[in-house]
Amino acid sequence: MWGGRFGGGPAAIMQEINASIPVDKRLWEEDIAASRAHAAMLGACGIIGAEDAVQIDRGLAQIADEFAKDGVPVDLALEDIHMTVESRLKELVGEPAGRLHTARSRNDQVATDFRLWTRTACDRIDAGLKALQAALLARAEEHADSIMPGFTHLQVAQPVTLGHHLLAYVEMARRDRGRFADARRRLNESPLGAAALAGTGFAIDRNATAAVLGFDRPMANSIDAVSDRDFALEFCAAASIAAIHLSRIAEEIVIWASQPFGFVSLPDAWSTGSSIMPQKRNPDAAELVRGRAGLLLGAFQRLAVIVKGLPLTYSKDLQDDKETLFGAFDALALSLAAMTGMVETLAFRTDRMRALAASGYSTATDLADWLVREAGVPFREAHHVVGACVKRAEELGVELSALPASDAAAIHAAVTPEALAALTVEASVASRTSYGGTAPERVREAIAAARAALEGQ
Ligand code: ARG
Repeated sequence: MWGGRFGGGPAAIMQEINASIPVDKRLWEEDIAASRAHAAMLGACGIIGAEDAVQIDRGLAQIADEFAKDGVPVDLALEDIHMTVESRLKELVGEPAGRLHTARSRNDQVATDFRLWTRTACDRIDAGLKALQAALLARAEEHADSIMPGFTHLQVAQPVTLGHHLLAYVEMARRDRGRFADARRRLNESPLGAAALAGTGFAIDRNATAAVLGFDRPMANSIDAVSDRDFALEFCAAASIAAIHLSRIAEEIVIWASQPFGFVSLPDAWSTGSSIMPQKRNPDAAELVRGRAGLLLGAFQRLAVIVKGLPLTYSKDLQDDKETLFGAFDALALSLAAMTGMVETLAFRTDRMRALAASGYSTATDLADWLVREAGVPFREAHHVVGACVKRAEELGVELSALPASDAAAIHAAVTPEALAALTVEASVASRTSYGGTAPERVREAIAAARAALEGQ
């Protein structure tokens, strides 16, 4: 492609470090679509002959068929997907192929292809997140009334419903989808026509190619168009945050599946056994999702380091952007699918959750609230009184509700048997009726709202 300037070919290792075709062959559809748009525009603007444009388009259509059928041939000598397509075009249509690269460079070409690919990737991840939300919602609906311990510091804190707990992840996934939608909206501008870096002297129509490729508009600055990869960074950032959320669900599944908790059991399809311990059932899928978050966080870091020190405009460092983002996409898509499968099939042991919901004096806040509401005790004082009640109950080895009336009265006259009798986990959960709270009626409303929103998207 640049033989005019060169006397000899590249060293073998040069070719190996330089060639990106093993990775960027994944851009073939975008590359061909962008070339077809470019050729049609060149023809329409009279920059190449109409007949040449037709030949080129026919050739590119045939290459698309070939690649769809047989895959993309990998020849390191052709370096990347752009040269691979162009060289095949030359074989198919001859001389007109040499006119395709008029008013364009691989710099705007790769930026265009990569934005198109990332746009589709945003849509695919969105579909994966939506499927996860649907799975979580179905389970939340099943368990709108199931009571489990809610934790802070992994210490039992207050009873909540399992439905409410699962809805927390539906909300996180909703914001994840928002981040991908934002990234998609911002990336949807066309670099095509920026050429190497400075634009071109040919009278091209950048609006036309942008429109054909579904971009909202051409990018306003040719230097920016070929230099920046902030769109890829945004994708990797959004993917990292989504992966962090998945990792937290995964962590909970691992904890919940362990025998001392026993909150869930995983079906065979999502567990593995041990080669030595016959009794084992391990939550490997959850552990792998948790571990894979490391790859996603690393992807953002890698790309940020690649870009941060580059002077404008294009430098070859940028070639590694694709392997990085492709890896992040693959890891996230797989993690989403695995997590959705687990969520759909987890068996929740609600008896065990219910039993542990009352442990650790989880209704102590309810007693303090009762003293505030029914006896007019200031909350700070009520907190102190209930702390003393818990201390006494712990000494006696009983639940708060079983604190003897005489012990209770000795701490504060307002701690009556009536107050203590009200301390059930059911009453606790039912009382949390504030907007966004865990009361089953609120949870049902939240499920309905989330479901309606999901149908609209
Ligand atoms: N394979 C290259 C990449 O992925 C395409 C752009 C090459 N441009 C250049 N000036 N060498 O970045």
